[in-house]
This record gives sequence, structure tokens and C-alpha cells, in this order.
Amino acid sequence: MSAHHDQDWDADTEQKLRRKSTKPQGRRKLADLTGEDPSDVADDTIRRLLDLGHLTEVVCELKSGKEATAYLAQTARGPALLKIYRDFAARSFKNDAIYREGQVVLDQRAQRAMASRSRKGLEMLQFDWVMAEYAHLWQLWQAGLSVPEPLVGPNVKTYAETVPAVLMRLIGTEEQPAPRLSDVKLTPEEAQSAWQQSVAGMADLLRLGYAHGDYSTYNLLWWENTVTIIDFPQLTTRTNPNFTDLLRRDAQSLATSFRKHGIHESAEGTLREVQRRALGPAPEPRVLLP
Ligand SMILES: Nc1ncnc2c1ncn2[C@@H]1O[C@H](COP(=O)(O)OP(=O)(O)OP(=O)(O)O)[C@@H](O)[C@H]1O
Ligand SMILES: [Mg+2]
Repeated sequence: MSAHHDQDWDADTEQKLRRKSTKPQGRRKLADLTGEDPSDVADDTIRRLLDLGHLTEVVCELKSGKEATAYLAQTARGPALLKIYRDFAARSFKNDAIYREGQVVLDQRAQRAMASRSRKGLEMLQFDWVMAEYAHLWQLWQAGLSVPEPLVGPNVKTYAETVPAVLMRLIGTEEQPAPRLSDVKLTPEEAQSAWQQSVAGMADLLRLGYAHGDYSTYNLLWWENTVTIIDFPQLTTRTNPNFTDLLRRDAQSLATSFRKHGIHESAEGTLREVQRRALGPAPEPRVLLP
């Protein structure tokens, strides 16, 4: 890890950070719970990513979700979405077990640490969670799926440097980041197209053996009539005994979340259509330039 340049940081970055950002709601509450200020985690992470050269500027905070805070950032390769996971002690990991079941933790000590929910254990869980999101993003991006391009990696050691953050290409523009499908108003034609793309996206995942685990318009972006799938830490495979349930639940959430766009499909019908399309042709893989 490189040295901190506190002065540069204070004079320059702090100001850039403050320019448009607001502290996420709920932070104070979390700080009360954990006895520390979780925003320190974000500040330290941003500082480190600037030092390492992964970022050139953090423009503003976009959204504070239940698991992470999303920032709009600039990189040498253009506008990025910087997703910084919450302080691991503040995160609940309530549903973690459902997604992890069927995964083999080879290291017994790691398994015990995780099970104990000790600080060390939570740190391990957090690390795994973030690394999983990168690994999935890389795999799906290379397979040609409609997902944001990861901006660090594909070397595992390289993207491990950015934990607890994930850096990916911003969908939309700096002035206008892509909205989620849950936040837009669509014409009937657009709604039909968004639905077809969303079903196709779920089928693309299934063809690769994955259930998203949180598939709905809340994790689908809409930009220039194109659907982009986001939020991948909890992707599961058939090794997970809950796989079929998670897949069914995804079909249900997708169908339900599209009702406000005037699409009325049943969960069963949606799942059948996803399964049917999963047997069809896969998207064209993306070639990684050397
Ligand atoms: N590549 C991207 N381009 C543009 N916006 C993005 C991108 N990735 C994420 N976002 C925005 O950041 C938000 C949070 O991302 P994500 O869903 O991955 O995290 P999360 O912790 O699950 O948040 P939430 O609880 O809101 O679902 C998204 O709802 C979306 O608005
Ligand atoms: Mg999300």
C-alpha cells in the first residue's frame, strides 16, 4: 500500500469530494450502533484508490443503498461508478447464509471466524463479498452480457487492492447517470422492450448457471433503450441448495416490479420463458485486448 499524501488530499480531493456530495442518510445511526464513523471507511478507501491511481477524482455521491454507497468518480478510462461497501461491522449479513450455502470454505479457521461473526470473521465475509462482485462482473462482461465493465482487473491481486470498493464503468453520463428501471416512466413500447431485455438478461445469467438473487427493476438500469444488469455479489449457482428457490424468487420479483410499467406476467410464466431462452444462443463474448 502506498503512502498517504495528506496534504494533497486535504487541499484538493476533500474539496472535490465535498463539491456535490452529501453525507448518506443513516450514517449517524450506523455510527451510533458501531461506535465509529463509517464514513471514515469510505474516505480511507477513496484516498487509497487515488494513491494507487485507480481514480482521478470523486465527483459526488450518487446513492446510499442498504449495502453500499455509490459514488460517481473519474478515472483515466472515463467516468466510473465507485461502489463502497458499508463498514462490515455495520452490515447485517442477514441473508448471507442463504447465498453462501453450498459454497465450500476450505479453511476451517476461516469458517469458524465467519460463523462467529467476530470482527475478523466479518472482515473475511466482507472481503469475499466484494471479491465475488468483481469476479462475477469480469466473467459476465467477458461473456458478453449487458453488465457494467469492471475497471480494475481481471487480475485478482489487482482488484483485491480496491476492497471494500468495486470500480466499474458508469452507465449514462457524468451529467446524467442512468436511472434504475424502477425510477423511470416508460411508454408501452419502451416497457415491452425493457421487459424483453430483462427476461433475456435473466436467461443469459441462467445459461451460465447463475441466479442473480436480487433480480428486479431495482437492479436494472435503463439507458438509451438498453437494460444493464447491476449488483452481483449474491449471484448463486446450482451448488447452492437454495438455487431453485432463488431463481423462482427472481422471476417473481422481476414480474412484480414490472407491473408499474403495465407488464402483467405471472412468476411461473416468467420463469418458464427465462428457462426457454436460456436454451437459446448466448451473446457474443467480448474480447479482452492484451
Ligand atoms: N455502473 C453503474 N452505472 C450507473 N449507476 C450505477 C452503476 N452501478 C450502480 N449504480 C447505481 O448505484 C446504486 C447502488 O448500486 P447497487 O445496486 O450495486 O448497490 P446496493 O448496495 O445493492 O444498493 P441498493 O441497496 O440501492 O440496491 C444503484 O441503484 C444505481 O442507481
Ligand atoms: Mg442494488
